[in-house]
Amino acid sequence: MAGEPVNVNEFEELAREALPKMNYDYFRGGAEDQHTLRENVAAFQRITFRPRVLVDVSSIDMSTSILGYKIPAPIVIAPTGMHELAHPQGEVATARAAAASNTIMVLSFSSSRTIEEVASSSQAVRFYQLYVSKRRDIAAALVQRAERNGFKAIVLTADTQRLGRRELDIKNKMAVPPLRNLEGLISTDVDSAGGSGIEAFVAQFKDSSLNWKDIEWLRSVTNLPILIKGVLTAEDARKAVEVGVEGVIVSNHGARQLDYSPATITVLEEVVQAVKGKVPVIFDGGIRRGTDVFKALALGAKAVMVGRPVIYGLATRGEAGVVRVMQMLKDELELTMALAGCPTLKDITRRHVTTESDRLR
Ligand code: FNR
Repeated sequence: MAGEPVNVNEFEELAREALPKMNYDYFRGGAEDQHTLRENVAAFQRITFRPRVLVDVSSIDMSTSILGYKIPAPIVIAPTGMHELAHPQGEVATARAAAASNTIMVLSFSSSRTIEEVASSSQAVRFYQLYVSKRRDIAAALVQRAERNGFKAIVLTADTQRLGRRELDIKNKMAVPPLRNLEGLISTDVDSAGGSGIEAFVAQFKDSSLNWKDIEWLRSVTNLPILIKGVLTAEDARKAVEVGVEGVIVSNHGARQLDYSPATITVLEEVVQAVKGKVPVIFDGGIRRGTDVFKALALGAKAVMVGRPVIYGLATRGEAGVVRVMQMLKDELELTMALAGCPTLKDITRRHVTTESDRLR
């Protein structure tokens, strides 16, 4: 690609050029037919605006807070695994970029770098994403390490009882790279000869009996607030509120788990209505533009998380690339708010967008 990237999608192109095919495929890929992967982005394109004119937008305020942590824009870093496959500094670079962007970073359970390294290299507000292992003492130890190291919340990923079938990783016989955080706790020594090593690794350690009752167990091992990631229905949103978690994250895992799950933006409103404002609803999946962020906010999200764009920035330019990607999304959101006539996040309402279902009414 010639010249400087001018949007997040161009960072993806640069990342594809920069990375070995196996690594790029791991980051980019989705499950099976990748129907949901395409839809996560395409569904945003079917939502249009109802902009208001002649509003004073000489000053735009995008600031908000999540669990009491103030951030200058409602855009945070989603948990994604194995950042060393994108850049040698791995999550240390990502965490530094989070601090430079004054945003929150959710550190993946499957990080290349340790909780301690990430904590000591960045002042960013950090949450820790958990997968629960068959040996509960190991999951508890990880949560407590995160808590001791100043992480502020636990994000329990609920959509990964087993790993989705990611055929690119199967074809590439994707091997599990070093996951230093798990060293001495969970063995990553698996055979990838038959297909995806990641799939074999998850099958080996993950407790697929995990269920709603286990939230109580999680509470018993930590004082941190708990967010449930992977909610796609009103039923589960109500359950999450019932069991008393502090936040719900609408996500289909970047379309890497159950293919033909709905595009997340098409179910956000259903979840928001079910939660009834009792806890914040955070959104992820397919955010590539500031206009996407605006649409998610209009449909009731408190904030959005971005997964792949962060990795593409990291792969291309390390810490500076992640900072640039976050800045691009923020700048685009600011412009969108100005052009839609919304000087603050509170001004963004359901009446500012037209969805597909609105058109069918
Ligand atoms: C993920 N995601 C993810 N989620 C999680 O809870 N734990 C994890 O370790 C990972 N790992 C991971 C790796 C890669 C390469 C991707 C692309 C995604 C899902 C992630 O948190 C988020 O839900 C999606 O990435 C959001 O979609 P976009 O922004 O990538 O479209």
